[in-house]
Amino acid sequence: MAAAKVRKAVFPAAGLGTRFLPATKAQPKEMLPLVDKPIIQYGVEEALHSGIRNIIMVTGRGKSAIEDHFDVSFELENLLESRGKTELLKIVRQVSDLIDVSYIRQKEALGLGHAVLRSQDLVGPEPFAVVLADDVIDSETPCIRQLLDIYEFFGAPVLAVMEVPPEAISSYGCIDAEPVAHNGSKGKVFRIRDLVEKPKQNEAPSNLAIIGRYILTPDVFDSISQVEPGSGGEIQLTDSLRHLLRSRPLYAYKFDGKRYDAGDKLGFLKATVEFALQRRDLGGPFREYLKSLAL
Ligand code: G1P
Repeated sequence: MAAAKVRKAVFPAAGLGTRFLPATKAQPKEMLPLVDKPIIQYGVEEALHSGIRNIIMVTGRGKSAIEDHFDVSFELENLLESRGKTELLKIVRQVSDLIDVSYIRQKEALGLGHAVLRSQDLVGPEPFAVVLADDVIDSETPCIRQLLDIYEFFGAPVLAVMEVPPEAISSYGCIDAEPVAHNGSKGKVFRIRDLVEKPKQNEAPSNLAIIGRYILTPDVFDSISQVEPGSGGEIQLTDSLRHLLRSRPLYAYKFDGKRYDAGDKLGFLKATVEFALQRRDLGGPFREYLKSLAL
């Protein structure tokens, strides 16, 4: 039987953004711009380019800028229209035209699993993607699209993973997994044996870290409801997936592409520099400028 189509993507966006204070005191971290686009828009475009138009944002207090960003801005559009700024008008309209967004609040920051559970009514009984917008992924084929291909093949949930240095694994969810052959290649698709959130380096089962892209099935909501708070006293998605593993197989995919941790200052700076260098309008002069620095 063909796997049910994934039409919806959930964006947990209720975090307080403490790693970016004071910039995030009065502005959501998801709205910090990488060059000239808010971080969260990269994730939304990735979902769109993967064929998913229905976006569910799980927000919290102080996040109204996200709602405004994906809404129509009549004043701005009128002004741009009257001044004949058609290119800018197109850019502004594209943001609100292309997607259908629903919002639900996570009233308390009780963890990623809890945030995903908040979306249950909006997701309903169908498979869905989860996108952690802090993880910005630059790739030829959008990362979500890559995961969807694996999901469609196995008809089971799929997590994005990448290898990280052993000393970094304690910042991530980590999988214990065995490689499975897929499309003639081995070492990219894994069947998950176990998962652990933020293990100590010497207890980590591998150096395969979970990155913020997931294709999940609706039975995960039951698992989330059943797990106890874990790492950091929060309801963790990783723990919920571990619970789900009792009743169905889970897969992981070592995606193609470069991932930036835009929720971290250094990662954010790296993404800014590399995205600016790729830009047709900015890349040339920016490269010249960087070369001129006595580093
Ligand atoms: C979350 C997940 C973790 C995953 C990480 C990827 O952690 O809980 O399993 O490895 O995202 O970015 P956070 O970074 O929110 O602490």
